[in-house]
Amino acid sequence: MPTVLVIDDNSQVCTALEVLLQLHDFEVQLAGSPDEGLAVLDEHDIDLVIQDMNFTADTTSGEEGVALFNAIREIEPDMPVILLTAWTDLATAVDLVRAGAADYLGKPWDDRKLVTTVRNLTELGRSRREASATQRARQRQRSALRDRYDLRGIVFASESMERLVSTACQVARADVPILITGPNGAGKERIAEIVQVNSSVREGPFITVNCGALPQDLIEAELFGAEAGAYTGANKAREGRFEAADGGTLFLDEIGNLPLGGQMKLLRVLETGQFERLGSTRTRQVKVRVVSATNADLPAMIREGRFREDLYYRLNLIELSLPPLAERIEDVEPLAEHFVAGRARLDDSAFAAMRAHLWPGNIRELKNAVERAVLLCRDGRISADDLGLPRPAPATRRSVAVPVVERDTIEEALQRHDGVISAAAAELGLSRQALYRRMEKLGIEADSAR
Ligand SMILES: Nc1ncnc2c1ncn2[C@@H]1O[C@H](COP(=O)(O)OP(=O)(O)OP(=O)(O)O)[C@@H](O)[C@H]1O
Ligand SMILES: [Mg+2]
Repeated sequence: MPTVLVIDDNSQVCTALEVLLQLHDFEVQLAGSPDEGLAVLDEHDIDLVIQDMNFTADTTSGEEGVALFNAIREIEPDMPVILLTAWTDLATAVDLVRAGAADYLGKPWDDRKLVTTVRNLTELGRSRREASATQRARQRQRSALRDRYDLRGIVFASESMERLVSTACQVARADVPILITGPNGAGKERIAEIVQVNSSVREGPFITVNCGALPQDLIEAELFGAEAGAYTGANKAREGRFEAADGGTLFLDEIGNLPLGGQMKLLRVLETGQFERLGSTRTRQVKVRVVSATNADLPAMIREGRFREDLYYRLNLIELSLPPLAERIEDVEPLAEHFVAGRARLDDSAFAAMRAHLWPGNIRELKNAVERAVLLCRDGRISADDLGLPRPAPATRRSVAVPVVERDTIEEALQRHDGVISAAAAELGLSRQALYRRMEKLGIEADSAR
């Protein structure tokens, strides 16, 4: 049962409020002076305060009320406070509401309105407290992650990224192959670096091969090495990347581009650590931790006969799947701030445009947009226009890629709070305006909302 503290020197007012609120299932604490009120606040678990503006007979300035309000703010910054005002204090009360008081009610008050206000504010307060407790727990988890592992300065705020980074750190120590999947520019290489620096072979070499950047007929020579004369143009023996990575990590980027012949050899090294250079019969043995990455749909390639199924299962013992940036919109702001690096200031229009954009090029696209904006902006202020993002029609945006999970989360939160937007927003950790914007974007009706 929520507890309301009433601070008023008029005992009749106190009694009337006590009866009224108890009738509506609130617990009530009474205090006849500001000092007494602050003492009760200190001792009891209070959900809301109703306070008078004047406490000594003959004063009407409201100064005592202001002082009390400020004292409450000091102790409990988030405490909802309703001011009870005579008409003489109206201007002061309006000022206090601007300064953060929850509401004011003129004396004599309307019982129904008072009860509704108290109920809304206590419910809102509870969900806000719960949301901030969840947020604090997440922050603790995140800083524990940062303390324990080297995260290579990776920036994220979303829960999905937190889970992914946490898994990457956990599996880094085990000597198992890892496959990192995700669209272009989503940060696959970043994750590979995190795996490497937190692995047991972090002191060993870290070698990267981009299978997409090499002509197909050279990939095998690049990976496994070649003896002189093994192929046209090979006039001296060359060491392959597997040899170079011995005792360390080999990052095979764009693994989907590895031809079938190379795939077979790769499977053998993964299973036995053995291979031969091209043109050689001498078997070599290495110990290499393989991390691979791709934005290709490997299961589809398997169905088309372009990727070996046995290799796939070997590579993706642990699969770390990076969501596109559009599905972790909470990451956009911190990433943008990170890329601006204090060289300019992003204004509200810039943030709104960034949140609305779908980022097909993911973080790389965001980084480039921000870099360009830093150069183009005037007076160190980046607005939406400086970012040069296309403005798609709302209808196409909605149908293309707004993640389903977000819609569900929002709709569920709205349902839980009977459509009270402010309460749902508090639970989701969003401002009311931000929630409205998202609802508008997703086409969620606000008609059930109050
Ligand atoms: N979470 C992050 N925090 C900070 N910078 C990031 C983050 N993720 C990616 N970046 C930066 O974004 C750019 C693209 O990331 P990265 O190269 O890792 O993506 P990728 O998935 O490997 O892309 P591609 O598919 O094109 O190879 C890089 O400059 C990288 O440093
Ligand atoms: Mg990459």
